[in-house]
Amino acid sequence: MEKILVLDFGGQYNQLIARRVREMNVYSEIVPYNKTSVAGIAEAGYKGIIFTGGPNSVYDESSPHFDAEILNAGIPVLGICYGCQLIAYMAGGEICSAGSVSEYGKTGLTVKKSTLFADVPEKSVCWMSHTDYVRTAPGGFEITAATANCPCAAFADEERKIYGVQFHPEVTHTEYGGRILENYIKNICGCRGDWTAEDFVNTSVEKYREELAGKKVLCALSGGVDSSVAAVLLHKAIGSNLICVFVDHGLLRKDEGDTVERVMKNEMGLNLIRVNAQKRFLEKLEGVTEPEKKRKIIGEEFIRVFEDVAKQTGKVDVLVQGTIYPDVIESGKGDAAVIKSHHNVGGLPDVIEFEKIVEPLKNLFKDEVRAAGRQLGIPEYLVNRQPFPGPGLAIRTIGEVTEEKLAILREADAIFREELDCSGFGKEANQYFAVLTDCRTVGVMGDARTYGYTVALRSVTTDDFMTADWTRIPFEILAKASNRITNEVRSVSRVVYDITAKPPATVEWE
Ligand code: XMP
Repeated sequence: MEKILVLDFGGQYNQLIARRVREMNVYSEIVPYNKTSVAGIAEAGYKGIIFTGGPNSVYDESSPHFDAEILNAGIPVLGICYGCQLIAYMAGGEICSAGSVSEYGKTGLTVKKSTLFADVPEKSVCWMSHTDYVRTAPGGFEITAATANCPCAAFADEERKIYGVQFHPEVTHTEYGGRILENYIKNICGCRGDWTAEDFVNTSVEKYREELAGKKVLCALSGGVDSSVAAVLLHKAIGSNLICVFVDHGLLRKDEGDTVERVMKNEMGLNLIRVNAQKRFLEKLEGVTEPEKKRKIIGEEFIRVFEDVAKQTGKVDVLVQGTIYPDVIESGKGDAAVIKSHHNVGGLPDVIEFEKIVEPLKNLFKDEVRAAGRQLGIPEYLVNRQPFPGPGLAIRTIGEVTEEKLAILREADAIFREELDCSGFGKEANQYFAVLTDCRTVGVMGDARTYGYTVALRSVTTDDFMTADWTRIPFEILAKASNRITNEVRSVSRVVYDITAKPPATVEWE
């Protein structure tokens, strides 16, 4: 398989670079600069390397460097921003601090005719974000682009196929960024671009059919996109040797448990065990109001349910996890402060007896997981599902979680989502749902006083859920949702809309 190495020097756009390459149907992987070597790279058979940006200055002793031999390995190299300065430094060029003329933002770019800039007009706009810059290109390199403040905005050694660009071709603000990357990947590295969802599915199915032949495999299915795609993929490979366990903890949205069961069991043909554990979860949550405590209880109870399941299934050979590429990249980073203890199936390996873990999606970004899901024939509404937290409606029910409050929330939430979906506006938002606050307020219905719950509506627009903005939903849609919720859901006397970004708020209320 053709693949490109994105050698990570700590830049903020590294994932974006990897995605841009994959958008050209070429597989790419991000590897930290200190986790590989020239020999390792040569052995892996990459068709090309991209050095990423990074926050450092090449002359700092602590800044990330790489063995300069990589430039003689016969593999094309493209350095972006810090990566460009690093190439210059390795090859004997001169880098200096731009000081007061550091460039940030959209900048006019003038390019010379060259392989990297084929079909790029002489004048265009690029995105700059740097303080240091290359003052003199290293020997054997030709300067191929400049901006007003940066006389060497790009350089090239056509013979060795080594290129540096001071600007960021991966961000959309660089007008011809896509063309430049395509020139590099297709024309310079010679990639054909035949890595597709179909190819991924076929290769994976073949691989797991062989690797897992005769094995008993267990998959914890949440109904979310990742675990659903992982399950259907493995089902295609090994059929009923894959046992899927779907724990219905009673904290799912309206009709969700039944839908997951129907689609996965009846339509996709999975060997599915649904565990109806609603009662035991609710009992454990009785009287609990503190968010972190709710999350911990649900996470632990989930493990307890699996202990019971393990008694039925006996020893399994393989456990499947729906880990995806961003999880893998993130877990390589240092420990951030725990804002919320996210619940997933992380504790399962401790209670299930098994020999090994298989993570069929660990090299895919979310949109690629969705594409694989479509390829596998999973219905669109499941493939396109919004993220839904493991602790479910328990963390959208403020205060104590009771059957009655869950029923109110389910109805209100279904109405809000239906209104956004029907209006078509749902496409503008990345996650939307209702929250049942613990606040009761006075209302009036007919001629009578009411004293009911306040429902909060939440909708966010975001790229990565690390930061998010509240969605500017047109008033008419909000009005209709509010009207329907107060009319159709008993015990709700007021509806409010959450207009807080993340940060300072989080997406979920608890
Ligand atoms: P927050 O509330 O942390 O949410 O801003 C960011 C995204 O993560 C989802 N989320 C969770 N997902 N287990 C999950 O699998 C959890 O415990 C959990 N808590 C929040 C949330 O829905 C949003 O998409």
